[in-house]
Amino acid sequence: MMKITCIIGSARINGSCSYLIDTLIKGIDNPSIEVKKYYVSKLNMNYCCGCKKCYIDGECVQRDEVKNVIKDLLSSDYVAIAAPSYWADVPAQLKTLFDRTTPYGDTNPNRILKAEKPIKGIAIAVRAGVRQQENEIILNSIQHYFGHLSIDTIERISICETDTLNDLTENHKTEINRVFELGKRLK
Ligand SMILES: Cc1cc2nc3c(=O)[nH]c(=O)nc-3n(C[C@H](O)[C@H](O)[C@H](O)COP(=O)(O)O)c2cc1C
Repeated sequence: MMKITCIIGSARINGSCSYLIDTLIKGIDNPSIEVKKYYVSKLNMNYCCGCKKCYIDGECVQRDEVKNVIKDLLSSDYVAIAAPSYWADVPAQLKTLFDRTTPYGDTNPNRILKAEKPIKGIAIAVRAGVRQQENEIILNSIQHYFGHLSIDTIERISICETDTLNDLTENHKTEINRVFELGKRLK
């Protein structure tokens, strides 16, 4: 069975990132693809404390939900992350997940959890302002994360001039459809 793990990297549960991930999932509409969905803002997740104990034994000192998320992520065929721009960067909640992935990244000499098969990555960035360049920072950050987990980025989607879900649904029907069609192509 194939699997996709989706991460909503926004503080908002019902915002544009959530809508776009749900659109992707609607497009998939394939019972033979298992779908896992996580909201960073709902995760029981502590900050990385920088102790680097994980460089010795591959395990984090924290006991929370993060390892389960990473297990899903690394056993997937596809991973999708959607994030809004917060001060021209990814939100702190998503950055915390990135930091906490240090036990499982390819810079860790003693990692014990790795990708089980080739994984394809989808990065989505949303922002209120006009310039695409700011979303490139978000997409680069997600792609950098994917890179250290051996996840091959197959799609980068940038949506600007979107402050609210209403902005998205009223003014970005083409992009919404692009995400839906992308879901349909995932096999
Ligand atoms: C704390 C905070 C900081 C933000 N900073 C920026 C910013 O630097 N640039 C920008 O274009 N939009 C910024 N925004 C707007 C969000 O990127 C925008 O509302 C986005 O559509 C939110 O997506 P969501 O509905 O999935 O949360 C910020 C929003 C918040 C709440």
